[in-house]
Amino acid sequence: MKLLVTGGAGYIGSHVVRAAEAAGHSCVVVDNLSTGLVARISSPIVELELASADAPELLAKLMKQHRFDSVIHLAARKQVGESVQKPEEYFLENLGGLANLLLAMREAQLMSLVFSSSAATYGMPDVDKVSEDYPGVPINPYGQTKLIGEMMVRNAAVWGLKGVNLRYFNVAGAGSADLADTAALNLIPIAINAVKSGKAPVVFGTDYPTPDGSCIRDYVHVEDLALAHLAAVDYLAEDAQEFSTFNVGTGIGASVIEVLDALKIASGIDFEVAIGERRPGDPPRLVADVSRIEKTLGFRTKHDLAAIVQSAWDAS
Ligand SMILES: NC(=O)c1ccc[n+]([C@@H]2O[C@H](COP(=O)([O-])OP(=O)(O)OC[C@H]3O[C@@H](n4cnc5c(N)ncnc54)[C@H](O)[C@@H]3O)[C@@H](O)[C@H]2O)c1
Repeated sequence: MKLLVTGGAGYIGSHVVRAAEAAGHSCVVVDNLSTGLVARISSPIVELELASADAPELLAKLMKQHRFDSVIHLAARKQVGESVQKPEEYFLENLGGLANLLLAMREAQLMSLVFSSSAATYGMPDVDKVSEDYPGVPINPYGQTKLIGEMMVRNAAVWGLKGVNLRYFNVAGAGSADLADTAALNLIPIAINAVKSGKAPVVFGTDYPTPDGSCIRDYVHVEDLALAHLAAVDYLAEDAQEFSTFNVGTGIGASVIEVLDALKIASGIDFEVAIGERRPGDPPRLVADVSRIEKTLGFRTKHDLAAIVQSAWDAS
């Protein structure tokens, strides 16, 4: 298939492009290179700001020229804290960019879209495993842009779009050093940076109602996540309903302390750990119910926590 990948020069997007090419698809990337790196990909890249006024026309032209089978839309800003400080920028870029993309797809009659959504759409769920039907309420502008983005994809069914929203849980690891996550925004890269600079990684809160008191998350290897996109594209090409939403995780929770223990093994360094205060807005537990994606797409992750942490350490 021929795929248009927005944000394909980013951390996750470059893994998607690499997996797609390995599976025999060809990709064209659209990216504004705000956080993306050209060196991560060898596919043709069109440098474009998706939220710009001329984006719909330029994108429609590109779509008509290449006759893509599907679009994988990853381009977005993703820093939760920044989204709280600059909500308008997140709405303008994440949702303006998506609106422009949908306008272009409608114009070019390109009817298949995979959208990067997030477990941030769930807010603070108080369940063991969160299913796609959980009535979550996002607690920050970043999560709000993802939930509204999903609604925009659903609304486009009116002109025939088939869409899949993939709600990623905690993405980590790397397929190779050149594709590594260079923005240390999440636990694993932050902890790796701390260890490499001789500092103690911080556990924010050890008094949560979890077995060891630290927060539990569902870590998914970025290479597994990349393959979920290809499963979604295949599904859209075959028997998809108009609109579907799938969690992408392992269904297995790991606590912050367990992640740091895995990092001690991966790095071979018995580093100190610092204990800090809870951070506002951290749910104690956020683990995916993955039964829908397993049943509908036949998709299952292959990497466990040890493999995720080892690949992140090796790529750092
Ligand atoms: N990393 C995670 O843990 C995580 C979790 C859930 C969802 N997501 C979503 O996955 C997607 C990719 O995330 P990532 O971790 O690879 O981030 P990233 O910052 O590495 O990649 C984003 C890419 O999109 C490009 N981009 C951003 N805004 C753009 C715009 N307006 N126009 C054109 N290009 C633009 C950037 O240059 C970059 O190449 C995002 O939509 C993010 O919200 C990420």
